[in-house]
Amino acid sequence: MTAKNNIIDGKAFAASLREQVGMLVPAFLEKTGRAPGLAVVLVGDDPASQVYVGSKIKMTRALGMESFEHRLPADTAQEDLNVLVEKLNADDAVDGILVQLPLPDHLDQQEVIDLIDPDKDVDGLTPTSTGRLALGIEGLVPCTPLGSLKLLKDHLGDLSGKDAVVIGRSILVGKPMAQLLLGENCTVTLAHSRTQNLPDVVRRADIVVAAVGRAEMVKGDWLKDGAVVIDVGINRLDPEPGKERGRLVGDVAFAEAAHASAITPVPGGVGPMTIACLLRNTLVAAHRRAGLPDPEGI
Ligand code: GUN
Repeated sequence: MTAKNNIIDGKAFAASLREQVGMLVPAFLEKTGRAPGLAVVLVGDDPASQVYVGSKIKMTRALGMESFEHRLPADTAQEDLNVLVEKLNADDAVDGILVQLPLPDHLDQQEVIDLIDPDKDVDGLTPTSTGRLALGIEGLVPCTPLGSLKLLKDHLGDLSGKDAVVIGRSILVGKPMAQLLLGENCTVTLAHSRTQNLPDVVRRADIVVAAVGRAEMVKGDWLKDGAVVIDVGINRLDPEPGKERGRLVGDVAFAEAAHASAITPVPGGVGPMTIACLLRNTLVAAHRRAGLPDPEGI
């Protein structure tokens, strides 16, 4: 087997999830008289964030959902950002609020997140959403781990009893990923920068989720035969001579992973799932806010 023929095609899965979400929009519109609405807030001009936010807005509109775009200057005051979030909380046309991270250094990220109405927290980052996830009760779950879990379940079916190692303990990915896998009855290890003997820890895993943001850190000989690998990292290498931009690679040395049962590529693996799950979460939040049952099959 080569790493090429056992790729988990996140791009195709995400396209199909977006299509399913899009097909449910007209019924919501008919029942409520309005389309589900997503507000995206971007502070400053970080180039990567600009690209992500642009894609989120485009794809929201492509599904017939309402997109509310708020681009604020890099020197926006905390109070002004807080006031905007409060306004979005009070706006009935807004079902989901996403404040793109990272925020410029002078802003307190947690303070803003804490203000978001948990019912509109399509990023799943508020203390209420985090608590609901930990308790295993209904809430909204962060998009990247949710997308990763969908890919894992699609590939493996039941995850019960699997040994899962998550590398990275961020609030956006590592911590919620560990909770989701625990909820699927995996035996979960949450590894991080202080973990001792990381290669041996990873060698135990049936499921590896790498979310550290370090190019090709996880080597092929860290992966046991037949492991399923979800690579959340998106890292740009230095450009090769004569090239303007370096290649995008994940946190896993992809070419060394031929003995894995399956692996997500970078790009085209987890990345597209994040936006698809954001749209999914927006549709789910809209249904719950309207007192409708959760849409099925997504
Ligand atoms: N920055 C990178 N990924 C994300 C995400 O999923 N949500 C938010 N809010 N910011 C991000």
